[in-house]
Amino acid sequence: MSDTLFIGQSNEGVTIELLANMANRHGLIAGATGTGKTITMQGLAEGFSDLGVPVFLVDAKGDVSGVSQAGKPHPKVAERVELMQLDDFSFEAFPATFWDVFGEQGHPVRTTISDMGPLLLSRLLNLNDTQQGVLALVFRVADDNGWLLLDLKDLRAMLKFVSDNAKEFRSLYGNVSAASVGAIQRRLITLEDQGGDQFFAEPVLNLDDLIQTDAEGKGIINLLAANKLMNSPQLYGTFLLWLMAELFENLPEIGDPDKPKLVLFFDEAHLIFKGASKVVLDKVEQVVRLIRSKGVGVYFVTQNPTDIPDAVLGQLGNRIQHALRAYTARDQKAVKAAAETFRDNPKLDTKAVITELGVGEALVSVLDDKGRPSIVQRTMIKPPKSQIGPITQSQRTVLMSNSLVAGVYEQEVDRDSAFEILAKRTEEQAKKQQAEDVAEAQEKERSKNQRSSSGRKRQSIMETFLKSAMRTIGNQIGRKLVRGLLGSLLGGK
Ligand SMILES: Nc1ncnc2c1ncn2[C@@H]1O[C@H](COP(=O)(O)OP(=O)(O)OP(=O)(O)O)[C@@H](O)[C@H]1O
Ligand SMILES: [Mg+2]
Repeated sequence: MSDTLFIGQSNEGVTIELLANMANRHGLIAGATGTGKTITMQGLAEGFSDLGVPVFLVDAKGDVSGVSQAGKPHPKVAERVELMQLDDFSFEAFPATFWDVFGEQGHPVRTTISDMGPLLLSRLLNLNDTQQGVLALVFRVADDNGWLLLDLKDLRAMLKFVSDNAKEFRSLYGNVSAASVGAIQRRLITLEDQGGDQFFAEPVLNLDDLIQTDAEGKGIINLLAANKLMNSPQLYGTFLLWLMAELFENLPEIGDPDKPKLVLFFDEAHLIFKGASKVVLDKVEQVVRLIRSKGVGVYFVTQNPTDIPDAVLGQLGNRIQHALRAYTARDQKAVKAAAETFRDNPKLDTKAVITELGVGEALVSVLDDKGRPSIVQRTMIKPPKSQIGPITQSQRTVLMSNSLVAGVYEQEVDRDSAFEILAKRTEEQAKKQQAEDVAEAQEKERSKNQRSSSGRKRQSIMETFLKSAMRTIGNQIGRKLVRGLLGSLLGGK
């Protein structure tokens, strides 16, 4: 018998539960604004935490931070406890870790340009095919030289290097148009203005830090502060893709586990798909399909199911549909489409009920123990045990300083990578030129004095040997970094 996670109660008094061993078959929480999506997500996160399953959740408005505090008496909660006869209901706080791409409302989340890879980066920068080609070329040149692409200044330095040496690269790698390089440079400046320079840095996020339980065995609820991130939809969408791909590439295959290893809740999920190219959409579909056997369940939260491409929607086995409005013909079409995704309940007019649902009420269908969708039930969603609404800044500060990862990510490090190597190279070239000029003058002087120059020759042979050895070492490190992670799946090789 599988562990279960309490979702709510049907209007016929039936307990509606999610089976833990089906929770990696993904899910959808949909509904118009203010219909209860966030509280439903918070309640599910509580349930997973109780089962010892860690959660990663996008906190779009900051209101899920309340999950870290025990709830307080609340009229809507009291009403529900009574209505659903939840005799053993109690307020409870859950272990939470806060993350923030900007490092303000949580521990900084970072990655490198290499880890992001050319395909996701192209999506992030909204590049056309030609520009994408140039970016791929830049990655290849860096790779072949063993230069690390860690941060935005590495990428900018590499672009400049490639464009300065376009003539030499043409025969080996293909054409590099100055216009494309210019366009990419401009996009990078925009990205930097949006805070991308904080995201692309080290130390990078260690995925194991998201898969943690506390001393009592409760799953840690990781909350990504996304209110600011949401203002840069492109960065937000790409970030979530990156996280999924990263988990997919790094976690071992475990088949269908008794309960998930990690559950992701992606709020404002439409931003993942908006403006994404066919190639990216195909990859998302693939990752969603395959990540299940790594024990990761993905729950998309969005206003309308039609925000999600069919190929992805078809893989979301557990569905919670809150109310939708049906004012316009287009609304009505969306309601019809949402209703049709459910397995019919002869006692319910699904399409009509979707528009009638109250706040915190939903149509629910979950996968049964054979993986079949249950017939749809009109369900009163359980009230959360934790606080409804956001915590204060000082509560957040206290939780951050006591977290499992306190002090691990705060200090940014900047190791030598493409930018520093290219800067040094320019400097060395200037020095070498200078040294050669001096040597030439001395040589002239020497031959004038009829003396041997064999000493200098020996030194220069040694120098050549060392340089070539360094290049080999550099190459190996660079290759490994660029090809790993997103390289095979999203690297577009
Ligand atoms: N299951 C529930 N139990 C008790 N109260 C609830 C429940 N669901 C929703 N509510 C009440 O309804 C309010 C609005 O719900 P919620 O914030 O979840 O809506 P939403 O769909 O996320 O809205 P938005 O699209 O604006 O983010 C909550 O603040 C809470 O007071
Ligand atoms: Mg909400």
